[in-house]
Amino acid sequence: MSDRGMDVARVGAPTHADLNGGGRRAWPPPPWASVMLGTARVGHLATADGRGTPSVVPVCFASLDGPGGMGPTIVSVMDEKPKSVGDRETRRVRNIVARPEVALVVDDYDEVWYRLAWVLVRGSAAIVGPGDAGHGEALAALRAKYAQYRDMELGTRLVIRLTGLSTSSWRAHGGDGETVAPDGSAETAGSVEPRYPESMALIRGRRSVRGFTAEPVPPGVIRAAIEAAGWAPSPHGRQPWRFAVVESAEIKRALADAMASTWEEQLSFDGQAAEVIATRLRKSRERVVGAPVLVVPCLFPGVLDVYPDVDRQDAERIMAIQSLGAAIQTMQLQLYAAGWDSGWMCAPLFCPDIVRETLGLAPGTIPQALIPIGRAAREPVRRERIPPGDLIAAWL
Ligand SMILES: Cc1cc2nc3c(=O)[nH]c(=O)nc-3n(C[C@H](O)[C@H](O)[C@H](O)COP(=O)(O)O)c2cc1C
Repeated sequence: MSDRGMDVARVGAPTHADLNGGGRRAWPPPPWASVMLGTARVGHLATADGRGTPSVVPVCFASLDGPGGMGPTIVSVMDEKPKSVGDRETRRVRNIVARPEVALVVDDYDEVWYRLAWVLVRGSAAIVGPGDAGHGEALAALRAKYAQYRDMELGTRLVIRLTGLSTSSWRAHGGDGETVAPDGSAETAGSVEPRYPESMALIRGRRSVRGFTAEPVPPGVIRAAIEAAGWAPSPHGRQPWRFAVVESAEIKRALADAMASTWEEQLSFDGQAAEVIATRLRKSRERVVGAPVLVVPCLFPGVLDVYPDVDRQDAERIMAIQSLGAAIQTMQLQLYAAGWDSGWMCAPLFCPDIVRETLGLAPGTIPQALIPIGRAAREPVRRERIPPGDLIAAWL
């Protein structure tokens, strides 16, 4: 068997791009490292006491643009997780009081070693107490990132604030041929310059968002997203899809109600308890009504080839569905690249006629999904991915 499908790879020598010039650099980190810092659920905070004795603790943290011209800032709170001593007596707080220089590291470990990466942030730490400037902003940033903090009484707790940040980062593989391929060869690097060195940061950064802020989405953002969708591959290049855009609150409500009645029937048919049905319907309705904009991707099979036999006709339809999936993801990637977020709801698939009627779409336009768009209200929890070696069924 070829070793190309093997998981464990040799980790190549980091390139200058990975090491950011070989050492510390001022803010910001490269885009892929910013994504890592923004999405990491845990970091390891290193402090030292007055004599230089080091200590490291895992912390929940959030990044924000510090208030009052403080610049990029990282915050962590002495939260309600059980501790054996009071906030001020913890080693990290005593160390910071004695010596403000600290470091925070986040890392991605993966058995597929070509995906290893870390980001190190150095800065000057301060202890911010209740009532001090920036205490409220720090708690707001942490609550936006961690749902667990929303129900915790944190107003009286100490915050650790890192400012004056510098960074260094490393990754074994840019996902774009920067270093070594999964088999340890340099084949993806060769002499070819990557066209978009940050592509993997964009692809990994896109995430399904299920709760949005009320911030309106400019129409130009939606137009650019639909233009991007139009560049997706499609059978015969026919682009057998159309997109309905819903900004109207009234139509969002009508759509939520129309889809809910079908879903309610199906859930009752499944024998689900009344209160479970009510909760699921309420959550789904909130997602539809609460998103600043909805895009409803529809199949538009009228532009496809017509065949006399069922098999080829079926294949033609499947190709159209495949390409609609590609168009939707292309749209989502463009939205994410532009700083916006989106989700994916399959509800229209179960009641396409009702959705078409509610939106007043032409016959032959078949709603397939619903893409809520806006700015994420909180960082979603991501699902683990199958290592690439396990995704390769054969490499012959
Ligand atoms: C065809 C399709 C249908 C989906 N339907 C739903 C849905 O109805 N509700 C939902 O919350 N997410 C839906 N998703 C999103 C997936 O749950 C999500 O992509 C997956 O959990 C991976 O998370 P990520 O997108 O954040 O990487 C759907 C995704 C696809 C491709």
